[in-house]
Amino acid sequence: MRILVCKDYESMSKKAAQIILSQVTLKPNSVLGLATGSTPIGMYKNLVDMYKNGVVDFSDIITFNLDEYYKLPITNDQSYHYFMQENLFNHININPANIHIPNGMADNIEKECEEYENSIKDAGGIDIQILGIGRNAHIGFNEPTTSFEKGTHLVDLTPSTIEANARFFKSEDEVPKKAITMGTGSIFKARKIVMLACGEDKADAIYNTVYGKITPKIPASILQLHDDVVLILDEAAASKLSPSDYLN
Ligand code: GLP
Repeated sequence: MRILVCKDYESMSKKAAQIILSQVTLKPNSVLGLATGSTPIGMYKNLVDMYKNGVVDFSDIITFNLDEYYKLPITNDQSYHYFMQENLFNHININPANIHIPNGMADNIEKECEEYENSIKDAGGIDIQILGIGRNAHIGFNEPTTSFEKGTHLVDLTPSTIEANARFFKSEDEVPKKAITMGTGSIFKARKIVMLACGEDKADAIYNTVYGKITPKIPASILQLHDDVVLILDEAAASKLSPSDYLN
């Protein structure tokens, strides 16, 4: 696990965008695993700027998003479909046919999950997966539990995640209680993983991700076993780590 500590949110976002830029430059038809949440917004802004400045071409990329709320229409401005259009897809030259986000409105959720997993496989697997992290160390919507889930599945959100995500809704009651998420297994299969975290309220989750026991109770701890993981943190999120473990 490589750990990059940046002085602030802006430099964290820029660094993450540069990693995607180099990925897409080296392999224009890269399969990108994308994340939502407030953390990657700055990275997406940087990518949009790079596109507008002619630095990168996204016409051949294929994307898979980690997750989507269950039974939240995609027209709802808190859906992850809406988020991705607003923050990235509407502003770059991605081919809409290459965008994949789990369909939380599907009638047959089991089938949807199976098909999502198959589409990732058919695309050749994910080259680079961007991750944020929940305060309880969840990745995607893989909440702390008793066993690692392999594939895309429906999940009950924990009270802590519902509370954390309530800031985006009018009230906590409006936050969906379930979501479809790629499993820890689907995430782990990505050839490269880049996790972003900022702010003091992520410091414990990051500490546990780096030094904690590898257990589904700390979903992100499984990243310790992956061969190619980079954590890009701001100083607050890195505040509980030993500086001797940093790359810079
Ligand atoms: C949600 C998403 C995660 C994200 C997490 C943290 O629960 N499903 O993918 O990492 O929130 O979000 P934020 O970046 O807003 O702290």
